[in-house]
Amino acid sequence: MEKFVISGGTPLKGEVTVSGAKNAVVAILPATILAEDVCRIENIPNISDVTAMINILNIMGAHVKYINKNTVEIDTRHINSYVVEHELSKQLRASYYLIGALLGRFSHAEVAMPGGCYLGVRPIDQHIKGFEALGAKVTMEENAMVNAQADRLLGNSIYLDVVSVGATINCMLAAVKARGLTVIENAAKEPHIVDLANFLNTMGADVRGAGTDVIKIRGVEKLHGCEYTIIPDQIEAGTYMVAAAATKGDVLIKNVIPKHLESISAKLIECGANVEEYDDSIRVSMDRRPGKCNIKTMPHPGFPTDMQPQFSVLLSIARGVSIVTESVWDNRFRYAEQLSRMGAVIRVNGKTAVIEGVEGLKGAPIRADDLRAGAAMMIAGFVASGVTEIEEIYHIERGYEDVVEKFRSIGAKIERREYPDGDDKIQLNVG
Ligand code: EPZ
Repeated sequence: MEKFVISGGTPLKGEVTVSGAKNAVVAILPATILAEDVCRIENIPNISDVTAMINILNIMGAHVKYINKNTVEIDTRHINSYVVEHELSKQLRASYYLIGALLGRFSHAEVAMPGGCYLGVRPIDQHIKGFEALGAKVTMEENAMVNAQADRLLGNSIYLDVVSVGATINCMLAAVKARGLTVIENAAKEPHIVDLANFLNTMGADVRGAGTDVIKIRGVEKLHGCEYTIIPDQIEAGTYMVAAAATKGDVLIKNVIPKHLESISAKLIECGANVEEYDDSIRVSMDRRPGKCNIKTMPHPGFPTDMQPQFSVLLSIARGVSIVTESVWDNRFRYAEQLSRMGAVIRVNGKTAVIEGVEGLKGAPIRADDLRAGAAMMIAGFVASGVTEIEEIYHIERGYEDVVEKFRSIGAKIERREYPDGDDKIQLNVG
């Protein structure tokens, strides 16, 4: 078993560079299936969700060549299967994008329901609604296989009942080669939706309006290979921003799009942090105990749910009482129990958490419940006095490239340690 062992209490200081966006790349990799050609993609983060998606593409017959750690060439000409079994799809949530991409290419997809972080019920009814609007017949087979099939996909209007990132992306993937015009209304507006649209257009698609709530897609007969660079990861950047502020540090976060970070910057400023924006970097510093503030998660451009756990750690040491409302997921406060073990005072009632700020946190053995909860526990460890050990760190490595090295580069005292299973003794000598 691997754990992170953190010796906390040191302000984080220095410079750190953000990697490519996880939630963009996990949509763009399946989108290469639509090209039937070679795509060269740069700024790919080296994270386990990417490894899992590339493994699935490989098994399906794609030729994938790593040019270097962050650049791949994917040749999808030889993909000859539209089936993805549970053993593969369970490895990441984004495997459901294979439904849209395979449907777009073969007019047929059989993909087992995906895995991913447990954040409450994660239905795909809006994805299915979109596929059906385009003319596919969708059935749920044995072993939770989603079977989507059409004679010929035809453009149509799709009104999403909830703003869903996944459904918006899946509808885009299925529609780019459908005959005629598709209009997706009440579409999600996240930066990764815009990045996918740009990627599809670079392959010859005709997608307009991404980043607004109406996306119009005129189907094209054929797409072609291209070269593309993934945008920087908004949530990775936000995680370093909050870590800098929570530890009373001073960090320059490089390779970011400041516009994508506005909702996070605004809340940090409200808590008393200094935030300086440059063209493609952002500097966050804090010289006092944070002030309280309330946050409510919303689809983009609102405050991102994927930053809620990390920000709650900052609020757990703020002056005063803060209220955090989670309006995207039903169950995204599981980390509160772990944080309480470190001395935080959090009362969770359904989708609201009331956080009574305490003077400081104390190191403890804790667990990463999911990806962003895990990132939050790391920040808690950096803030806390004493030693924090975090179990189940594979969740964190799904979405953060070189997370130990990057935090060490800004002064964090963190080590990855391997323990024989069942050995719970920790040596307290983190340097
Ligand atoms: C994406 O998940 C992200 N994952 C999540 O990030 C992120 O939390 C979420 O968007 C919201 O921003 C990826 O991009 C791979 P949704 P997704 O469909 O697409 C409901 C992380 O930590 N809904 O936008 O699965 C749903 O239950 C991960 O990086 C339906 O009701 O989220 C939720 O309440 C975790 N029916 C809301 O919509 C549907 O058919 C938003 O979900 C689809 C969704």
